[in-house]
Amino acid sequence: MASSSLPSLPPVSGTDPSSSVLDAFRISIAKKISDALEPLTLEQAYAGVDYGKKGEDFTVALPRFRLPEKPDALAKKVIENFQADDFVASIKHDKNFIHFQLNTTSLVRETLTQIHTLGPQYGVNTSGKGQKVLIEYSSPNIAKSFHVGHLRSTIIGAFLANVYKACGWEVISTNYLGDWGTQFGLIAVGYEKYGSQEELQKDAIKHLFDIYVKINKDAEDDPEVKVEAAKFFRRMEDGDESALKNWREWRELSVKKYETEYDRLNVHFDVYTGESQVGQKSIDDAITRLNEMGLIEDHEGAKLVNLEKYKLGKAVVRKKDGTSIYLTRDIGGAAERYEKYKFDKMIYVISSQQDLHVAQFFKVLELMEFPWAKSLVHVNYGLVQGMSTRKGTVVFLNQIIKEAKTVMHEQMQKNEEKYNAVEDPEMTSEELGITGVKIQDMSAKRINNYNFNWDRMLSFEGDTGPYLQYAHVRLASIGRKNPHLLPLPSRSEIDIATLTTSTHAREIAFLLGTYPDVVKTALKTHEPSGVVTFAFRLSHAISSAWETVVVKGEEDIEKARARMWLYESARDVLAASMRLLSITPLERM
Ligand code: ARG
Repeated sequence: MASSSLPSLPPVSGTDPSSSVLDAFRISIAKKISDALEPLTLEQAYAGVDYGKKGEDFTVALPRFRLPEKPDALAKKVIENFQADDFVASIKHDKNFIHFQLNTTSLVRETLTQIHTLGPQYGVNTSGKGQKVLIEYSSPNIAKSFHVGHLRSTIIGAFLANVYKACGWEVISTNYLGDWGTQFGLIAVGYEKYGSQEELQKDAIKHLFDIYVKINKDAEDDPEVKVEAAKFFRRMEDGDESALKNWREWRELSVKKYETEYDRLNVHFDVYTGESQVGQKSIDDAITRLNEMGLIEDHEGAKLVNLEKYKLGKAVVRKKDGTSIYLTRDIGGAAERYEKYKFDKMIYVISSQQDLHVAQFFKVLELMEFPWAKSLVHVNYGLVQGMSTRKGTVVFLNQIIKEAKTVMHEQMQKNEEKYNAVEDPEMTSEELGITGVKIQDMSAKRINNYNFNWDRMLSFEGDTGPYLQYAHVRLASIGRKNPHLLPLPSRSEIDIATLTTSTHAREIAFLLGTYPDVVKTALKTHEPSGVVTFAFRLSHAISSAWETVVVKGEEDIEKARARMWLYESARDVLAASMRLLSITPLERM
């Protein structure tokens, strides 16, 4: 618990001033409103306290309370009742609104104290305690390309896993590999022709992809190839050990390779599963259940579920030759996961190109009357256009990482002096590059398409990944440059009065105070962009403060210490927001 020196407040459900410092100020505002506007309750008033627009801390829109009196009359009551206190310094009536300005000293002191007391726990909450979420993301296809769509799923999924953890949920991260389907029959046929153990060991993902491309070409000229492939896949589905042997090795080597690449991206999975892992029994059970419920139609030997009533077309669940398909594996797979994990929620991070597919299998599960079907969530996202390296098209994840790193490395070398001061330029340029890729990906709403642009994303100017890292590095350097101030004395002995006269310092403190809300909003919206916006707003506020809120050279030790405390708090929270985005904050660059 972060101790507070403010007067005590009545509790409001859903709030927790001990972990979310601004809740205290909001409750005090709500109390002022409800006291003046009886019979409005404290809870009702609280729900009406919003962040203010530019220059205002909090704002209440009076009409939302639906009270019989006019806003002017209501405002008058609130103002007559108002007395400045440790929470609120002043209020202002403006048409339908009342704006509240917080007491600066309390704001700065309470915020910095809470950040210090809670340490790495600042910003997290326990709203998801006791609940379990399974998050499926990344899910590339073995032997096909790892395209930017998979990269987006990886980036957004890793973010969601962090957010749910920060909100107290038990999280299981799952990678559902595309490791099954007729294409594996095709690759098997291709492997006989073009395969090489040596190449496979060297880079399984690339080798299998090359084979896949070649055999697809062959198949265009020779229809026999497809027939062979279908026969082979049939044997795989029947569990024929001789047909499965190679496939097993391909899968294992591919997973190994992916694991090292995910590691570099700071992304980790608890479970690698895949389409191949969905048991035949779950699939058969699903089809039986659908049959019994009268949901299946026969169409020239294939079986389908008619979803036209729901504007979702007709979903084929079994092919004529009896082999399973993508959709059915998702249906059976979901049921298996529920049996295994008994999740409270399951999230699929899948491109909006598959909206129909996901809507279909969610609907089928609902029609099958699984009570947990309503706990499934599809987090979708738009397309990434125009990603290629400077040499050509990108198809592999390691190419993306490598290219980002190379571009950053070249950038860094342009400033020789700085470059020489960096201890590990390899690691640093890779992290900078990856940060650039991630920030570009998460800057706008998920559903938007965007153009992959190396120059823009890896620039140090504008709201880019490297800029964010730079902001953090700069904050991290203050301690190194002012060792005489460290360690800071007990925080209660620091005189923050000198900070309260600076509007820049006040703005930083207020932003820092909003961080717990930023995390809560991310949980609700599943949007990384809100966190990215926060990180940039904070970085901009800090950069505006540099010239006036100076540490180095400040002779008044009290002042210097207070400022140092402010910047340390800013660094901690900026780093926390970056980690939430799966970015590793750099100490130097
Ligand atoms: N492997 C699929 C693809 O690359 C994505 C899998 C998405 N997840 C799922 N449960 N269908 O298109």
